[in-house]
Amino acid sequence: MGLIQAERIMREDPAHARLPHDADYAHGAAFIDGRFCSVDTAAIPITDVGFLHADAAYDVVSASAGQLFRLPEHLARFEQSCAAFRLRNPYNERQTIAVLSRLVQLAGTREAYVWWCVTRGAMPDSGSERGNPSAYRNCFYAFVIPYLYIADDDTRNRGLDLRVSEQHIRIPEQAVDPTAKNFHWMDMKLSLFEARDRGADFSVLLDARGNLTECPGANLFLVRQGQLYTPDSGCLAGITRATVLELAAARGLPAHLTRLPASALREADEAFLTSTAGGIMPVNSVDGRQLGSGGPGPLTTQLHNDYWEKRWAGWHGTPVDYSAAQTTHTDLLIEARHHP
Ligand SMILES: Cc1ncc(COP(=O)(O)O)c(C=O)c1O
Repeated sequence: MGLIQAERIMREDPAHARLPHDADYAHGAAFIDGRFCSVDTAAIPITDVGFLHADAAYDVVSASAGQLFRLPEHLARFEQSCAAFRLRNPYNERQTIAVLSRLVQLAGTREAYVWWCVTRGAMPDSGSERGNPSAYRNCFYAFVIPYLYIADDDTRNRGLDLRVSEQHIRIPEQAVDPTAKNFHWMDMKLSLFEARDRGADFSVLLDARGNLTECPGANLFLVRQGQLYTPDSGCLAGITRATVLELAAARGLPAHLTRLPASALREADEAFLTSTAGGIMPVNSVDGRQLGSGGPGPLTTQLHNDYWEKRWAGWHGTPVDYSAAQTTHTDLLIEARHHP
């Protein structure tokens, strides 16, 4: 059994085709503090400390075949991230859903990457107030673009080559809580560049004690003797990771959230990464050594295919309303933003 060629299906199958949309939204649609616009022209104020200090929380949900996947879980995680950073989403859940759905509708994307955030907002007028969370007006921004695959069909078919970073560790949880989805990406980005410099596709970050944490924008799983293992700390509680745990349970595969040394990954039979922007991404090698017989392993392939088949059958899906009737509803909520 081979991997479902999900990217090709999304590109070629009529059930996944993009719907008619205004030319302004060819590259995607954005929502900037109360207004919808083209993603090409979307801009945030330069003094927003979300930009200046990475002072923000965000989340990403995907749509495939016109269905947002596990939207309630993404919304709940987003509110937890905001709470962890003392940020307040100016929109309630119903309004947030309406903005995100409207963006998908404007872009006409049945395969969509849906990103949103709340930033601290502009610097307060008085510098001495910068330590006062209530001196800021938190801002909501969002955009939708066609689905972004961080490992395309070709890459998934051959499997990712991973490097465990030697130069960078994942930012400690006492510094920035990795379970709150945040803009602190420099450890992950630099490790990714390091991996590329060494001929690999992707990096894996350890914590200060040498335990596996996660990868840039993705959780990590390994398979050993028919059982799944994934780090229990130092990483985001990925929604795709939770999905894999459900898929594994449905197949009767034991799965463990636990501390894992880097050697466990190097000695694994199979491994894969999980992310909204790519689903389940098989690993070929770690630090130059092939896992198993190389390429996607049998359990990884099963889980990968379960993931897409179930999603396309509507599992945990929230259908997007692509009819124009949504418009009035979303215009009303822009009012509500300023009069909560
Ligand atoms: C640091 C980090 N870890 C893991 C993930 C995977 O999480 P999810 O499956 O919810 O997309 C992400 C997603 O962007 C991430 O940024």
